[in-house]
Amino acid sequence: TRRITVHDIAAAKERGEKWPMLTAYDAMTASVFDEAGIPVMLVGDSMGNTHLGYETTVPVTMDEITLLSAAVVRGTQRALIIGDLPFGSYQEGPVQALRNATRLVKEAGVGAVKLEGGRRSLVQTELIVQSGIPVVSHLGLTPQSVNTMGYRVQGRGDEAAHRLLHDAKAAQEAGAFAVVLEMVPAEVAAEITRSLQIPTVGIGAGPDTDAQVLVWTDMAGLTAGKVPRFTKQYADLRRTLGDAAKAFADDVVGGAFPQEEHTFH
Ligand code: KIV
Ligand code: NA
Repeated sequence: TRRITVHDIAAAKERGEKWPMLTAYDAMTASVFDEAGIPVMLVGDSMGNTHLGYETTVPVTMDEITLLSAAVVRGTQRALIIGDLPFGSYQEGPVQALRNATRLVKEAGVGAVKLEGGRRSLVQTELIVQSGIPVVSHLGLTPQSVNTMGYRVQGRGDEAAHRLLHDAKAAQEAGAFAVVLEMVPAEVAAEITRSLQIPTVGIGAGPDTDAQVLVWTDMAGLTAGKVPRFTKQYADLRRTLGDAAKAFADDVVGGAFPQEEHTFH
């Protein structure tokens, strides 16, 4: 079996096929998604929230993304693995961006990288793509800009919608092979999807994008507390895992574990 490539992604848009994407942060979980047929996985800097205990994605480092991306690559055989460029790893300019994208490809083995911003990350996107590394652009709500942007729907109103479309076209022009649209009005996402040759990947962007991505811990009900309204919860893993831990604890305290079949003599 060979890995999905950016050419397969382009062909899917030509055929009008929708496709799913999930985040992944470790080899074990990634292998489950690979076996389930998820064709594209993102080692998102959302790991800052889900796995590293940070309040935002802002503190996530290249070392952290590289370590977890390598694990996801090792745990999978078929999926295209996209590594997220964390805050501070590309904002200085194209040379810094290329250096860190190259590190993710060489050290972790990812097939593509993602960075936030359309026109503001244009020169970075151009140089990385020209160097032979596929790039995904992330537009709309860009969590690395939480300190200037906050967490709210982006692209509401004619002017903002126009700016977003402009950013998406610029990303495509710079060579991006896909555009993530996070928390934008469905109508705007649909318009951008119609206007681009490359696929759009929606998260909180309505039903008309070419692909959909969710943070896997939100999708599977493992995240503590409130999850965004755009998430659909497909399992209740937090309860399942908590119940297993409690049952184990009860068994140990009550002497019900281990039994004869778990014991060596
Ligand atoms: O880090 C992440 O998980 C992401 C997705 C939400 C697109 O960037
Ligand atoms: Na991200």
